[in-house]
Amino acid sequence: MRRKLVVGNWKLNGSLAANAALLDSLLREQGSWTCDAAVCAPYPYLAQLNERLIGSTLNWGAQDCSAHESGAYTGEVSAAMVAEFGCRYVIVGHSERRAMHGESDQIVADKAKRALAHGLTPIVCVGETLAEREAGVTDEIVKRQISAVIHTLAHCISQIVVAYEPVWAIGTGRTASPDEAQAVHHVLRAKLHAATERADAMQILYGGSVKADNAATLFAQADIDGGLIGGAALKAADFVAICRAAG
Ligand code: PGA
Repeated sequence: MRRKLVVGNWKLNGSLAANAALLDSLLREQGSWTCDAAVCAPYPYLAQLNERLIGSTLNWGAQDCSAHESGAYTGEVSAAMVAEFGCRYVIVGHSERRAMHGESDQIVADKAKRALAHGLTPIVCVGETLAEREAGVTDEIVKRQISAVIHTLAHCISQIVVAYEPVWAIGTGRTASPDEAQAVHHVLRAKLHAATERADAMQILYGGSVKADNAATLFAQADIDGGLIGGAALKAADFVAICRAAG
């Protein structure tokens, strides 16, 4: 039986004061869900998460890491640095980074490898654009994206978390239907099965306009093991409700 996991992706939001208020509310409610839960914050706030969340049931993480170990890469932050702040997770390959920062499948796979090398669990995001869905190539796109990670991580592939996030559902209020999401999750799990005996134990999250009122039906699907939550992760009541929907 896989445990459900709910991860908040704060994106480019927050301040020391706003984070403190949000974290205090989440900590007050942490006894009201049993799933695994985490929040992923901008880098400067990782120290704050480390300080506030240590000893709680909430885990935390970063939203990206460098594909490089160290060196002359101005502005980059390494997996080793992220790990120093107690992070358990790091999101890699979010569609906003693929689209706005030109991250290729191979760069995403290299980032996942760096994360694992430093004891972090990479949450590897895959997903098709609206044009790709309308062209009927969704399965090919997500298989291509996950293949690069499978190839690069080899026998370590079972240590990642996968997040299926259709680009057309992110921040748009338009969610994939539970059936549409389940169909892609099934494709992804089949692909993982071909690479590892442990595919049944791997968590595959759904992301894209998950809200308190649609979370339970999404999470009830056979291959949906939780969610990667953007907008709704910024309001404590919404994030708590989504965690509760996961169990
Ligand atoms: P959203 O974002 O929940 O605001 O759609 C999800 C994500 O981008 O991870």
